[in-house]
Amino acid sequence: MDLIKLEDWSTSDIIETVDSAMAIKSAPENYTNSMNYHTLTLLFQKTSTRTRCAGEIGMMRLGGNSAYLDWRSTNFALADLRDEMQVLSSYTDLILVRFLLHNELIEAMEGATVPVINGCCDRYHPTQAIGDLMTIKEQFGRFEGVRLTYVGVHNNVCNSLISAGMKTGMQVTVVTPELNQAAEDPDLLSQAIQAGTCAISDQLQDAVQNSDAIYTDTWIDMEYFLDPSYEEEKKRRIAQFIPYQINKDLLKDQDVLVMHCLPAHHGYEISTEMIRDPRSIVFDQAANRMPSMQAIMLKLVQADG
Ligand code: CP
Ligand code: NVA
Repeated sequence: MDLIKLEDWSTSDIIETVDSAMAIKSAPENYTNSMNYHTLTLLFQKTSTRTRCAGEIGMMRLGGNSAYLDWRSTNFALADLRDEMQVLSSYTDLILVRFLLHNELIEAMEGATVPVINGCCDRYHPTQAIGDLMTIKEQFGRFEGVRLTYVGVHNNVCNSLISAGMKTGMQVTVVTPELNQAAEDPDLLSQAIQAGTCAISDQLQDAVQNSDAIYTDTWIDMEYFLDPSYEEEKKRRIAQFIPYQINKDLLKDQDVLVMHCLPAHHGYEISTEMIRDPRSIVFDQAANRMPSMQAIMLKLVQADG
């Protein structure tokens, strides 16, 4: 069993994992030996704070250990991907990867003989979505009928929230005038719309007013944010998306929670004021990445026998 995208998991797999994450969070002392003699290897092509720490520190706190590999310092780039994944599998019990391209991730998974976790690719971010479901459950005590509106660019995080909605009954409305081309997944969108858990809207105010939670993410994925060749597109996106910024003017005094997977770009997709607002749960989301990653790892190790 792997975690490449949320659609691959059943509703009960997801709910059990969220419940297990909540149990780990409330009594971490019960889990300090649950990964004894187990190793997680992380293989990252992109930068990370939360996903990396949730994996590395999370594994250590379960009694296991981990090895972090920056792709550029390995021989992956000059070798056959499947060969290298097979070799890595002989040293480790789990592999957490952050690849640029979804297709390369699939090839890597096919080469691995131990469970592979997608720590974010251009199309999906399933470990983020499981952490977010945990945060939703903490706040609302349920998923069914919780109205979450995602505002901004339709990207990997948006796709995984749509999947999360389809699996749990959470209602996801997307106000996303543009799509990151690499994140295009028409099947997911049509299935979620057909399931009645996803709606597309171009009415920002209306969507916000009918929401229990508003979620946003960067307009520019991390690998492009500081890339000089992306400068023109970055300027275009900022001009196009500034009316979609999550700020006090948009939310006013509405009773709604504010979510962001982080890292946030203050003054772009969200104002500093909203990140620090009492309605913001962005730091709860970030903190929940650890127990939710621990629950994902435990589930995969148990499933792998
Ligand atoms: N939200 C998230 O995945 O953050 P990192 O890129 O820091 O891991
Ligand atoms: N969607 C952004 C942030 C993910 C944490 C990206 O892929 O860079």
